[in-house]
Amino acid sequence: MTEPTANIPMRTLYSGAKMPGIGLGTFGSDHVDAATVANTVRLGLALGYRHIDCASVYGNEAEIGAVLGSTAIPRDELWISSKVWNDSHHAVGESCEQTLRDLGIDYLDNFLVHWPFPNSHAAHANVDERNPRAVAFNPDAYLEAWAQMESLVERGLVRHIGTSNMTPAKFDAVFADMTITPSVNQMELHPHFQQSAFRSYLRERSIQPIGFCPLGSPNRPERDRTPNDTSPIDDRGIRALAEARGVHPAAVCLMWAIDQGHTPIPFSTTEHNLAANLAAATADPLTADEQAMLVAADRDCRMIKGQVFLWKDGQSWTDLWDIDGIIAT
Ligand SMILES: NC(=O)c1ccc[n+]([C@@H]2O[C@H](COP(=O)([O-])OP(=O)(O)OC[C@H]3O[C@@H](n4cnc5c(N)ncnc54)[C@H](OP(=O)(O)O)[C@@H]3O)[C@@H](O)[C@H]2O)c1
Repeated sequence: MTEPTANIPMRTLYSGAKMPGIGLGTFGSDHVDAATVANTVRLGLALGYRHIDCASVYGNEAEIGAVLGSTAIPRDELWISSKVWNDSHHAVGESCEQTLRDLGIDYLDNFLVHWPFPNSHAAHANVDERNPRAVAFNPDAYLEAWAQMESLVERGLVRHIGTSNMTPAKFDAVFADMTITPSVNQMELHPHFQQSAFRSYLRERSIQPIGFCPLGSPNRPERDRTPNDTSPIDDRGIRALAEARGVHPAAVCLMWAIDQGHTPIPFSTTEHNLAANLAAATADPLTADEQAMLVAADRDCRMIKGQVFLWKDGQSWTDLWDIDGIIAT
């Protein structure tokens, strides 16, 4: 690792591979264009980020690829992750090959199934839009997609494979039939949505949690906002702790993530915030009192509810998340 990343915590996957314990998100939330996101990656690499979280549906992998192609950082010092979008569960190999072409690299460190449903939506979809071909979670279909993921490992195109937006119930339905255990599960994680039981479930199976929206996604798309949403960076206790430490509340959210041992992947378009977020990952550890306050800050408030992936009239977004442990059909 080069000097700027020397202090970044590393997370060891069950393969033994070491993944930088903070990554850089690249979803422009439908309002940050591809060139700006690519510039964020350029700034991030210069500041010391070495883990970049991409996805084909973010529509910016070619622009990010141009940045990766111009960096002098050796490939083996980077951790590049991407995701197969919901409309390509039947064609995972082609999707991965396209991502590799766009990113201009010949392997991915990690490749994830973005959502456990083949239900896609267009960019800028509003909260009421539904894919007419949307279906319920189907373990057999998911395992077919997973088998295609596994073959990418055999082909050497990806070093690890992982899941995203899963639930314990969905894992229970497929885990025993996976030949390759997922390396990571990407999931929403911030102090107002801590999912501690699910994280324990993952750790018992040697799956590393990666936390998306680690700041509560303050600029998320309109479709992902409801009147009852809370905001971790506006939390009174988090603000007080931030003030005492002389940092922004965003830094406290990231310190919580690092302290909890998962891997946050914050997004930012500004050099100042990119640097502050990286600094938060290497800040002095939280004290026991600070830890206790942050654990108590949980509001069980999911920001990315996923309404656009529902498949039947009259459903609630909670049907996507198996809250009572039963998979909705
Ligand atoms: N697997 C999935 O389904 C999934 C879903 C959602 C997201 N993700 C991934 O997770 C990444 C992060 O999620 P996200 O972008 O939605 O949310 P986030 O990282 O929680 O929040 C990003 C927003 O916070 C602001 N911000 C960043 N650092 C800040 C700081 N130090 N102080 C104040 N504000 C700050 C940014 O604005 P500025 O630009 O002004 O700094 C940006 O708009 C995505 O980019 C994507 O890679 C994955």
